[in-house]
Amino acid sequence: MCGIVGYIGPRDGVPVVMEGLQKLEYRGYDSAGIAAFADGALKLCRSVGKLRELEQRLRANALSGSPVIGHTRWATHGRPSEANAHPHLYRGVVVVHNGIVENYVALREELAARGHEFSSETDTEIISHLIACELDAGHDFPAAVRRALARVRGAYALAILHEKHPGMMIAARQASPLVVAFGEAPGEYFVASDIPALLAWSRDVVFLDDGEMVVCDAAGCRILAVADGSELVREHQRITWDPIMARKGGYRHFMLKEIHEQPLAVGNTLLGRIAEDRRRVDLRETGFTAADWRRFERVVIIACGTSWHAGLVGKFWLEGLARVPTEVDIASEFRYRDPLVDERTLLIGISQSGETADTLAALKEGKQKGAAVLAICNVMGSTLTRMADGVLYTHAGPEIGVASTKAFTTQLVCLMLIAVAMGAARGGLEEERQADLVDGLLRLPVLLERALEQAPTVEEIARRFHHATDYLYLARGENYPIALEGALKLKEISYIHAEGYPAGEMKHGPIALIDENLPVVVLLPHDRHYEKVLSNLQEVVARDGQVIAFTAAGDVRAAAGCADVIYLEEAGELLNPLVYALPLQLLAYYTAVLKGTDVDQPRNLAKSVTVE
Ligand code: G6P
Repeated sequence: MCGIVGYIGPRDGVPVVMEGLQKLEYRGYDSAGIAAFADGALKLCRSVGKLRELEQRLRANALSGSPVIGHTRWATHGRPSEANAHPHLYRGVVVVHNGIVENYVALREELAARGHEFSSETDTEIISHLIACELDAGHDFPAAVRRALARVRGAYALAILHEKHPGMMIAARQASPLVVAFGEAPGEYFVASDIPALLAWSRDVVFLDDGEMVVCDAAGCRILAVADGSELVREHQRITWDPIMARKGGYRHFMLKEIHEQPLAVGNTLLGRIAEDRRRVDLRETGFTAADWRRFERVVIIACGTSWHAGLVGKFWLEGLARVPTEVDIASEFRYRDPLVDERTLLIGISQSGETADTLAALKEGKQKGAAVLAICNVMGSTLTRMADGVLYTHAGPEIGVASTKAFTTQLVCLMLIAVAMGAARGGLEEERQADLVDGLLRLPVLLERALEQAPTVEEIARRFHHATDYLYLARGENYPIALEGALKLKEISYIHAEGYPAGEMKHGPIALIDENLPVVVLLPHDRHYEKVLSNLQEVVARDGQVIAFTAAGDVRAAAGCADVIYLEEAGELLNPLVYALPLQLLAYYTAVLKGTDVDQPRNLAKSVTVE
């Protein structure tokens, strides 16, 4: 977790780094700090709490200069405190770090035995000590960094300054994301954990790979192999995201903005993936051919959190349309189970960030056993996309709200595209059916707009029930994962306990919870499960539960006994999960706003979980 930013160049780097950190606050927000070369001397400013605390400190102790490095923290080693906040300074070496030094206990003991004293409880501080030792031994700054990193096991994205090298910034990467950007002015370089931090300044970037570092100074920006210091030539990429896309765009919260972006985002996901005749799906960009789609005997979908819920819906589609046996596994479970996969298995890794440690480790495990990896991912150049055999980007644009929304619906679109492509290649999906599904996909943006028009009604429902202590969400079939996702959204941002349950399973437990205080969300689309879900709904009504039903526009049967009903324009049996997901996101959002929680940065959660 954590976000790092660094700047070197002709302008004052403090506002540059502070603005970058603000864009990365989603990566962690329990403390923050910066280090800057001001008038040739290295100065630090750190603070516990959100970035605004640091901003206040900076107002009191004006700081300006270049180079500058900064950090926004999500604690892993050492509780949130000023002493544990980054940057960490030891004998003129100052470091910001995202990741975990796995062998830090052994290194700390070794350094302590040699008389080193530590000013924090962090693993990071070890790195500044190791570098200082190498400098003492007479190595130049880049060599000292390389030699120190050779001793570090674990994950890091680092930005480093040294008081004797006021014109140099070094950054390095191992298993934590790091992007380098090239400014327009000569000698102007930026580093950051993620693209939104850099967008305001540059579009010209290089995504560092594991084991790579950059040395930026007046002579330029060199990319080196950490192992032997050899210089590497890396291809630059141009980022097309608009900086305005990465801001709140007039909405009160990023989450609300991102909920409302879904019609557009889903449209973007489809761009270039539908054949010209609008009757077929074209996924050649993944590098997977029709022969590839045919050769897999099994699909295993691996993900965490909301991405896992998308995978659960994907199973219905892959099995239904492509007739390929599909399992969906939580990454942290899969990776420790010695899973049964081989070269006839397609692993689909779903991750908004492309940096979730468990997902990456699980896919690596599967890959070692010979499986092919197809990534569904939102972040260009992320670790997942670089380890996968093929990638289908969600093209949702930056998602800043910790609770995932547009990433989820665009992941669903990708899964449907894969199911159709696979079904077509394997011969089970007739041309007419493919054309119908393509047509359904292309109608989604309009239907999602319509679903969002229900926002005022959903807000009213939230107002009515926001004092509830528990919520139950019921659905069947491909909408059952949407019930799980609705419950997760509510838990994440409003801190109300919520459970998603298959409606048919209610009688085996949750029915005991029902009383006049329990709001029960029931998803009642007009599909093959309708009558059965309606019976379940009535079972709740009969026990005085407060039913909030979501059903098809024009339904006259559903309302009886319900506390509230939301009517939605449907997208057809298979694609309805996308339509039904949106009002549940809104219900969670408005409930959280009414409860006054921190919607975009809920307590204890982080957007990108880069630790186990
Ligand atoms: C965290 C986030 C969730 C997200 C999950 C998986 O828990 O708070 O919103 O669904 O990680 O993240 P990924 O980037 O792999 O989709």
